Amino acid sequence: MSKIKIAPSILSADFSRLGEEVKAIDAAGADYIHVDVMDGHFVPNLTIGPVVVKSIRPHSKKIFDVHLMIENPDAFVEAYAKAGADIITVHTEARQQDVRATCQRIKSLGKKCGIVIKPKTPASALAPLMDLADLILIMTVEPGFGGQSFMADQLEKIKTVRDMIAGTGRDIDLEVDGGINAQTAKQVIAAGANVLVAGSAVFTGDAKDYAKNIQELLGNA
Ligand code: DX5
Ligand code: ZN
Repeated sequence: MSKIKIAPSILSADFSRLGEEVKAIDAAGADYIHVDVMDGHFVPNLTIGPVVVKSIRPHSKKIFDVHLMIENPDAFVEAYAKAGADIITVHTEARQQDVRATCQRIKSLGKKCGIVIKPKTPASALAPLMDLADLILIMTVEPGFGGQSFMADQLEKIKTVRDMIAGTGRDIDLEVDGGINAQTAKQVIAAGANVLVAGSAVFTGDAKDYAKNIQELLGNA
């Protein structure tokens, strides 16, 4: 199993000091910086535009892992790519797109393409995209907010997707997102995840606690 990577979600950061928070999780050992983009249509929340990604880009050299929870990703992949995204992840459920074409467009911009599914979407929805995706994201909460409880009924899906990835022979990251803490991290790693998104579990306490919070997710408490 490849090294477990931690992707703190800045949705749980102090937005009044976002640059400092990005620097702090970089220094605390984050592998990816997870950026939750929400448009108020695909999910009932509104968050981070390309201008914010551009403004935090200079504060870390780590991979910017941009999760688009938006209805029309095609309209924005170029703007997020230009703003500094390294991985751009799109939902199969977004209505205003041909997800395969969107993924191809992301790669044509020199970025890695992630595909994400919501809890109610079966793993089979990923099958037509396994030859293209660089990362697959399994939501373990309904998208829209940080601080929600982990949905253990997604564990079987994580195992299924790990087997699907093995079948491709391709090196695809299996990322999970939602309710990940020291307890649930063990479960999703055992099920086959190798990238853990965590917002509230990392941004607990203040910057001096972030490294310990990350180590606890890795089981090195
Ligand atoms: C939810 C977002 C998640 C969320 C994770 O729609 O995609 O990335 O911020 O937050 P926690 O780790 O607190 O569940
Ligand atoms: Zn996310």
